[in-house]
Amino acid sequence: MLSFFYFCDIIWYVGKNSNYIKGDDFLKINITETVLRDAQQSLIATRLSYPQFEGALKLLNDAGYYSLECWGGATFDSCLRFLGEDPWERLRNIRKNAPDAKLQMLLRGQNLLGYKHYPDDVVRAFVRKSVENGINVIRIFDALNDLRNIEVAVDEALKAGAEVSGTLCYTTSPIHTLDAFVELGKKIEGMGCHTLCIKDMAGIMTPKAAFDLVSALKKNVKLPVVVHTHSTTGLGAMTLLKAVEAGADTIDCAISCLSGGTSQPPTESMYYTLTEMGYDTGLDPAKLKEINDFFKPVQAEALASGLLNPIVMNTDTNALNYQVPGGMLSNLVSQLKAQNALDRLPEVLSEVPRVREDLGYPPLVTPSSQMVGVQAAQNVLLGERYKNVSKEIKAYLHGEYGKAPGKVNEELQKKVLGDEEPVTCRFADTLAPGLDAARAEIGELAKSEEDVLSYVAFPQVAEKFFKAREEKARNTVKYSITEVK
Ligand code: CO
Repeated sequence: MLSFFYFCDIIWYVGKNSNYIKGDDFLKINITETVLRDAQQSLIATRLSYPQFEGALKLLNDAGYYSLECWGGATFDSCLRFLGEDPWERLRNIRKNAPDAKLQMLLRGQNLLGYKHYPDDVVRAFVRKSVENGINVIRIFDALNDLRNIEVAVDEALKAGAEVSGTLCYTTSPIHTLDAFVELGKKIEGMGCHTLCIKDMAGIMTPKAAFDLVSALKKNVKLPVVVHTHSTTGLGAMTLLKAVEAGADTIDCAISCLSGGTSQPPTESMYYTLTEMGYDTGLDPAKLKEINDFFKPVQAEALASGLLNPIVMNTDTNALNYQVPGGMLSNLVSQLKAQNALDRLPEVLSEVPRVREDLGYPPLVTPSSQMVGVQAAQNVLLGERYKNVSKEIKAYLHGEYGKAPGKVNEELQKKVLGDEEPVTCRFADTLAPGLDAARAEIGELAKSEEDVLSYVAFPQVAEKFFKAREEKARNTVKYSITEVK
C-alpha cells in the first residue's frame, strides 16, 4: 500500500514537472507581440505609420496574444515629430480595430515618454488619459531602478484600473547582484503591481542568468513574471526559453520578419518551440503566418529605402561587453554616420562602459543610454574625456534623474557641479505643478486635454504639429467649399 502511494507521488511529481503534458496551468505561457512598438522602434527608428499597420490590427486582435505592445516608448514622439500623426488618435484607432486585445504601453515612470522628470500632476493626467483612450496594460520602469520615480505613475495606473507591470531594468555590474534584484522585486510587489517585468533592454541577459533570476524572483515574489529581451547578441530566444523553464509567465516576441537583431526573438519560432514542449501559448499559427505575410512588404520597403539598416539585423556579440541596447546601437551608428565618423564606432563602444562606471553603473535604457552614448561619442571624437559635458549628464550628476545605482565618480561630479550640492530627495518633489501652466501657454492650439499633454511632453514638436493640423484643416475646408461651388 505504502509503495502504491509512493508510486502515485512519483507520477504526480513527474506530471507536475514534465514539459510534455498539456492543459496544466503550469504550462501556460503568455506571449506579448511587440511589432507595433519595440520591434519597429528597434529596427526602423519607430517610423511605422498607422496606415502601414492598420490592415494587420484585426489579425493581431484575433491571433491569441496575451497583449499587444503598441504605444509609449518612442512611438509618441515619432508620431508627432516624423509621421504627422496624433499619437492619441493612433491609440484610439488601434483600440477600435483591435477591440478585444489587451493594449500595452511602455512608460518611463516620472519621465513619461520624454527625457526629463515631469511634475506629478502631469504624470497622473498622462496615465489617466492613456487608460481612457484605450490602454489596458502599463509597463512602468525607471532607468535607474530608483522606485521613487515610478511610484506616482504606478499609483495612478492602479487607480485608473490598468494592469500594472512594475519593471526592473536588467543590467550587469558589480552592484547588480541577484539579491539586489530580488529586493527590488519585493518592493515592486509591495507597490501593488500586478506583474513583475524583467526588462533586458540591451539583450545581455544570458540564458543562465535568466534562469537564475526568474527562479529567484519566483521563489521570493508572488507576482507573475514577464521577460523582455532583445536578440542583439544572439541570446534572445535561448534566454526566453530558459526564462520559461524557470517559470516565467509572459514573454515578449516580435513577428518574424521584424524580429531578430536589435528587435525581439521571433514569435513563430518561440511558438513552435514552446508548443512542441507542451506549453500552451494560446496563439493561432495560421494567424501568425498571415500577420507575418502582412508585414513582409513593410520590411522589404524599409530595406529598399535604407530605413532598415541591415547592420541592426545582425548578431552583435560585442554588446555582451558593451551593453548597448538595440535603440542605442542604431542611434550611435546614425550619429557617427552624420559626423562622417562611423569608423570610430569600435572606440566609442569601448568608451561606453568607462562612462558608465563614472556614473555609478546606470542600466543603459532611455534616457541614460542616450546620455552615456552621446558622452562616450564626444569623449572619443574630441580626443579628451569630459571636455564637453552634456547638460543631461550635468542633470544626472545633480540628481535630477534619481539616485545612481552605485557610487558616481566624485571628481567628475565636483568638476561638473562646482559648488552646487546634488539633490537627494525625489526630484519631482522639487517641481511645481505643470498642467495649468502648459494649458495656458499652448492656448487655443490645443483642442483637447490630450493635446495639452502632447504639448507638455514635447513642446516645440507638438506646437508645430498643431499648427500643421490647423493648416490642413483650413485647406480641407477651402477645397470642400470650392467643390461645392
Ligand atoms: Co526593449
